[in-house]
Amino acid sequence: MASATVLPASAPESIRLAAGIIRNGGLVAFPTETVYGLGGDALNPDAVARIFEAKQRPHFDPLIVHIADEAALEALAPLVSARDRRLMEAFWPGPLTLVLPKHARVPDLVTAGLPTVAVRMPSHPVAQALIREAGVPIAAPSANPFGCVSPTCAEHVREGLGDRVDLILDGGPCLIGVESTIVSMAGTWPELLRPGQVTLAELRNIVGPVLRTDGSQATAAPGQLPRHYATRTPMTVLAAPGYRPPVQDGERAGLLAMSARGQRDTPCCAVEVLSPSGDLREAARNLFAALRRLDALALDRLYAEPCEERGLGLAIMDRLRRCAAPLT
Ligand code: TXA
Ligand code: MG
Repeated sequence: MASATVLPASAPESIRLAAGIIRNGGLVAFPTETVYGLGGDALNPDAVARIFEAKQRPHFDPLIVHIADEAALEALAPLVSARDRRLMEAFWPGPLTLVLPKHARVPDLVTAGLPTVAVRMPSHPVAQALIREAGVPIAAPSANPFGCVSPTCAEHVREGLGDRVDLILDGGPCLIGVESTIVSMAGTWPELLRPGQVTLAELRNIVGPVLRTDGSQATAAPGQLPRHYATRTPMTVLAAPGYRPPVQDGERAGLLAMSARGQRDTPCCAVEVLSPSGDLREAARNLFAALRRLDALALDRLYAEPCEERGLGLAIMDRLRRCAAPLT
């Protein structure tokens, strides 16, 4: 199996090479502040088709388009309201994706036929440099096979998609660790479609009321399937922090603990502590790598300690629930 070239993102030649690949319709995995993305030219339907193929992603699940400056919006989503602008001013560049009415030239494949397009301006310097150098908006889902845990370092990308991407830019581990907050601005009220580091309270501070989509409404954020971010090992989310995992006799279980407190006297044979002090930012940053390490142990079951569903805790619990959801 051919394996993709991995280049240090800090070298300017790497960025030039990567941008050339994007312009020629190829695929480049690159770091963002949230997770690694699998990028292709958003305005080239062939490149976009390759993204879906590489990820084995169903075509009903639309992609996020990444831009480096607001001028690029004109060609993607020209109808921007004063309310949209306030959010952009407050959170761009950064981990917020806005769903806006789309320009006719955005390929239907990108938006899964929806009349809207999801746009994000990442703050990661490598992502910014790549988009600028390529000179085109970059469509990029998380760089993992569909349904699997998102990658937070270049090695995760190589493991999952190494033979299906032309180049991987290694920019070290991602600082945030969970995917961007997605807000739809296409309806009467802003609506939170996926929780992330930009919290509901922060959004409401800027634009007033923000609705919350019930996670079961698969049509609102088409890719937000109940089971997602899944490990191969079945996972159970414990009822409360500090709960003793109900490990059966002979069962080899792993524990995903939110803080150092969670691992005391545990009946589990493997433990990952997301943040010794229980800090949610640190926990989010470590979440996906810790899930991958536990999954690699081929245990019988994983138990995850919950955190409070407030602020960034909403995003962490969203990912844990989707990981633990039964196969349907
Ligand atoms: O942090 C992130 O957002 C990362 C990095 C790479 O930027 N990207 C990412 O992409 O998480 P992906 O493809 O894994 O998740 C995109 C989500 C999907 O759940 C999809 O349903 C939703 O965005 N989405 C995209 N376009 C949409 C639209 N027009 N309306 C509603 N939801 C949309
Ligand atoms: Mg994803």
